Amino acid sequence: MSLVFPHTFVPWFRAVAPYVHAYRGKTFVVAIAGELVAAGKLNLFVQDVAILHAMGIKLVLVHGFRPQVNEQLRAKGHASQFSHGRRITDAVALDCAQEAAGQLRFEIEAAFSQGLPNTPMANATVRVVSGNFLTARPVGIVDGVDFQQSGLVRKVDAAAIRAAIDIGAVVLLSPFGFSPTGEAFNLSMEDVATSTAIALQADKLLFLTEVPGIREDRSDPESAIDTELALAEAERLLAALPNPTQPTDAAFYLQHCVKACRGGVERSHILPFAVDGALLMEVYTHDGIGTMVVDEKLESLREATADDIGGILQLIEPFEQDGTLVKRDRTEIERDIGHYTVIEHDGVIFGCAALYPYPEAHTAEMAALTVSPHVQGQGDGERMLKRIEQRARAMGLDSIFVLTTRTMHWFLKRGFQLVDPDRLPEARKRKYNWDRRSQVLLKKL
Ligand SMILES: CC(C)(COP(=O)(O)OP(=O)(O)OC[C@H]1O[C@@H](n2cnc3c(N)ncnc32)[C@H](O)[C@@H]1OP(=O)(O)O)[C@@H](O)C(=O)NCCC(=O)NCCS
Repeated sequence: MSLVFPHTFVPWFRAVAPYVHAYRGKTFVVAIAGELVAAGKLNLFVQDVAILHAMGIKLVLVHGFRPQVNEQLRAKGHASQFSHGRRITDAVALDCAQEAAGQLRFEIEAAFSQGLPNTPMANATVRVVSGNFLTARPVGIVDGVDFQQSGLVRKVDAAAIRAAIDIGAVVLLSPFGFSPTGEAFNLSMEDVATSTAIALQADKLLFLTEVPGIREDRSDPESAIDTELALAEAERLLAALPNPTQPTDAAFYLQHCVKACRGGVERSHILPFAVDGALLMEVYTHDGIGTMVVDEKLESLREATADDIGGILQLIEPFEQDGTLVKRDRTEIERDIGHYTVIEHDGVIFGCAALYPYPEAHTAEMAALTVSPHVQGQGDGERMLKRIEQRARAMGLDSIFVLTTRTMHWFLKRGFQLVDPDRLPEARKRKYNWDRRSQVLLKKL
């Protein structure tokens, strides 16, 4: 009996393809809370990372070790000390941190080296590289509290990390740094991940944490997760939240996401490690599973460039096949790319429309208006129509028209009127396909 179900497998695989294309060669920094390892989720996580790696994503991993250090301290009968949400690292705690980091590094490297058949790790060859990539400085004395060997990232050796990921290795960073005097400092995983993402100008920073993300209704712990927060909105929210002291406080990871975004990392994410496959879902599905903080300056609705040709072709192809849209080949789209407007979300094209002006007739055709089936009904079609109308107005045109066989009502609802094909500009009339019997709808601007 075959275990492949073509009717579910094939559409699913194709739905993932745009993300595979979009992220090939991109750089992600993935940070895991030590709690993930303590919860026994390391192997599954490493398998998912190996899949991202196989998809051509360049990866830097940063691990935390809060529970492991606490455990070591407990074993030594030494109390963990925290202040301002940060560990105070005395000589004993530094020893414990070094031991915990060594142990974790060992476990992570072992997990990457497994290759059992019938697991996602079969045939995976992932090289893990660690090293002295971080320079640290002491936190110092804050409000009278001496943080001793607790440090902050002073510099990230981005060139060395880049060299390692460029040859296909996964770089693994522990929250440790050294000062130019050779002293070791205990850093926080969040600081290391954020500083590294900024230094590399990574495309994404992902935190796998004990929290599921940011709730839509901040006061209701049961409300849905906000899957996307614009940077400005995240900043407003952060200002309204109390200063975080625990990793489970809403502001705890959010402050690092905001910092990364301000530092030029386009997107940063907070995801729950408790959900199996959270990393894959966040990266390879439209809405993801956690919260993404996105720098909204990256306008999702914009004019197309040559880089969008592949995305546009992929988007319109199913509608050409079912006859909703007229067939356009790559050369035609390449030639006309300047006429296109696109909607991009997280690097993937979700909508397009083209505007072909007929200045002699003071009008223009809007063609190939398409929104991906995954996101239809959310107003993207309307947003694109508005942008096309703006473009036409800016050209001094009086109207726009469309030819459609199936979408007449959508246009009628948006101010278009049915007109006779004879009203088409002469040049367009010559190309009108009388067999297709498209309806012509016109909107006055
Ligand atoms: C037409 C299209 C671009 C609309 O995109 P969209 O992002 O879903 O549009 P919006 O969210 O702004 O509008 C959604 C509304 O349009 C309606 N709608 C979608 N397709 C429609 C159609 N063929 N006829 C009439 N109404 C339609 C939806 O039911 C929804 O109605 P509601 O708001 O009352 O629930 C999209 O459905 C599409 O890509 N269709 C296939 C390609 C196509 O037909 N293009 C036009 C070629 S000329």
